Amino acid sequence: MADQMKVLVICGSLRKGSYNAALTRALPALAPPEMKLITAPPIGSFPLYNADVQDASGFPGPAEDLAAAIRAADGVLFVSPEYNWSMPGVLKNAIDWVSRMKEQPFKEKPVAIQSCSQGILGGARMQYHWRMSMTFLNAVIFGTPEVFVAQAQNKFDKETLALTDQPTKDVIKMQLAAFAKFIAKMKK
Ligand SMILES: Cc1cc2nc3c(=O)[nH]c(=O)nc-3n(C[C@H](O)[C@H](O)[C@H](O)COP(=O)(O)O)c2cc1C
Repeated sequence: MADQMKVLVICGSLRKGSYNAALTRALPALAPPEMKLITAPPIGSFPLYNADVQDASGFPGPAEDLAAAIRAADGVLFVSPEYNWSMPGVLKNAIDWVSRMKEQPFKEKPVAIQSCSQGILGGARMQYHWRMSMTFLNAVIFGTPEVFVAQAQNKFDKETLALTDQPTKDVIKMQLAAFAKFIAKMKK
């Protein structure tokens, strides 16, 4: 489809058997036809943010790659676990790096979030920390429907990690359709 909207998907877990990564793999089947989901460049190789490193040698290549991918996208969808009631360090570190760029890539960018955890709140608390950071970066934050995948260990196939839970699929479908409309409105 020529005029498909591009949504970059950033996963906050580096784990091979990650439920959040498994969730990202389920998204294309649940997205509306006008939405094309693009996997973000990897964030796991970023050095820890250090302004001295930035001053001495500029931004690391992987951070530049991520920023370019965010700028090229019509919207960004985060899919992340909650670590100790907040964002995983690897995700926060990636946000911190690109946030220092002159052409800050989240500025006026439509952003949405889904979280998946093995706990009963589905990562709700990390979403509020993420919303705080995105507010500071002047992103355009999508509100509802919210997607919290709680007790993820019961919602994916044990062998294939395919998403099997129908109510979860339904709410994701609703969120992606609403996010598509949100992005389309922003582009007008
Ligand atoms: C360092 C660490 C902190 C965690 N903290 C939380 C937490 O605050 N809330 C929660 O629901 N689960 C927490 N968990 C459990 C995660 O929900 C669980 O490991 C989940 O599977 C991680 O996502 P992933 O499968 O995509 O890697 C934590 C896990 C780790 C490794």
